[in-house]
Amino acid sequence: MKTKLKEPVFKIIGQCADEMGVDAYVIGGWVRDMILHRECKDIDVVAIGSGIELAQRVAKSLGDGYHVAVFKNFGTAQIVYGDMDIEFVGARKESYRQESRKPIVENGTLEDDQNRRDFTINALAIGLNSDKFGELLDPFGGYKDMEDQIIRTPLDPDITYSDDPLRMMRAIRFATQLDYVIVDESLESINRNKERIKIISKERIADELNKIILAKKPSIGFKLLFDTGLLHYIFPQMVLLQGVEKINGKGHKDNFYHTLEVLDNICRTTDDLWLRWAAILHDIAKPQTKRFEKEHGWTFHGHEERGARMVSKIFAELKLPLNEKMKYVEKLVRLHLRPIVLAKSEVTDSAIRRLLFEAGDDVDDLMKLCEADITSKNEYKVEKYLKNFELVREKLKEVEAKDNIRNWQPPISGEDIMKTFNIPASREVGVLKNAIREAILDGIIANDYQQAYEFMLNKAKELGLSAD
Ligand code: CTP
Repeated sequence: MKTKLKEPVFKIIGQCADEMGVDAYVIGGWVRDMILHRECKDIDVVAIGSGIELAQRVAKSLGDGYHVAVFKNFGTAQIVYGDMDIEFVGARKESYRQESRKPIVENGTLEDDQNRRDFTINALAIGLNSDKFGELLDPFGGYKDMEDQIIRTPLDPDITYSDDPLRMMRAIRFATQLDYVIVDESLESINRNKERIKIISKERIADELNKIILAKKPSIGFKLLFDTGLLHYIFPQMVLLQGVEKINGKGHKDNFYHTLEVLDNICRTTDDLWLRWAAILHDIAKPQTKRFEKEHGWTFHGHEERGARMVSKIFAELKLPLNEKMKYVEKLVRLHLRPIVLAKSEVTDSAIRRLLFEAGDDVDDLMKLCEADITSKNEYKVEKYLKNFELVREKLKEVEAKDNIRNWQPPISGEDIMKTFNIPASREVGVLKNAIREAILDGIIANDYQQAYEFMLNKAKELGLSAD
């Protein structure tokens, strides 16, 4: 089968390969994505010979300003060409040792190189030399698998997965991104080999997990991770959400599947990875806070606070960044019930001011999370909640315009207090600062300097302080 390679750089690579008398192919992800009409800026070129020498020749041919980055240890070389990243490598035959995923690498043929790849859809190659330019080499029927939308390994899946256990996650990641089905044989093999995921670094697992989360419908991936048993190894806290307990015939909802619904919902309104993580973690402490109370049935009191406190540990275990992104997720988990409470009761200005004060600029994301959290099957209830959230949103806008509370800085600082009363940093300073903040949030005084100053003088009298 012939393909059309439009990019002029492929002709240049082919010419260089002809001159050197080596065969060269574009292979792997780029070929897959071209057939699927997906954008891909990473091009892998395999040479039956030295990839590094081919890269050096190509760079020369491209002209001044093209630099080859050589990675001797890996036998690879890279050229950045416009917005494309072209990687050159010699064809390889790899065999793996049981205890490590680091392969012993030998030179090989194109077939050897295709054999060692993860999935049939990733094992396609296209010829670049002039005599076979554009020719598709597809020894495992990857093209047909794309038509049939299936994920399959070129070799016995037990070999492919135990060679490199990260591929179990990659299978699930591709199935999620492309909405393909993993063949049964492969799923069974993942289940058999799942324990080997332990030899993979946490960082690489997190990369794949994040790619699943960034897909259009991440629930596909999480269900596969759960069903194959991989999730139990990589993210056990989430597994605990699964299941329904019944007491006196009363059950609660299955929090694993609920969480997945919330996640899919939020994916319709945001591409932000961390907001998606907040959706994954919003109910994470439900198993730990679950109680059955005679009068109320199942309750999960305090799961938002307990959940927020679990975030840093989970991020650390998964090797996710322990920075402001984590703080953001913590904050959203902590606050995720607040708008719901507001939507259920009479909304007061002071409750809105408090929410704005605590959520700051993240208040819009918080509202998105809350709306995504509505998973009731009862249309009437859904409509009612959405309407109430609309009210909360309007009220947020109104109060914000009036009081300017978002990212609020108190009109009177600790410094001001110390100077006014000529006192050192002390408990009294904190008491006064808090009292001013509370009075503003409660609407007792306006958010301005003069009113806050007078309020402070009165409050200080109660503490036995007087201004100089
Ligand atoms: N590959 C593999 N086993 C892995 C990783 C990669 O066999 N564990 C092969 C596949 O043929 C893959 C190619 O190396 O197509 C390039 O890998 P990579 O750049 O990591 O992934 P892509 O398939 O290009 O997909 P994406 O860019 O979406 O990560």
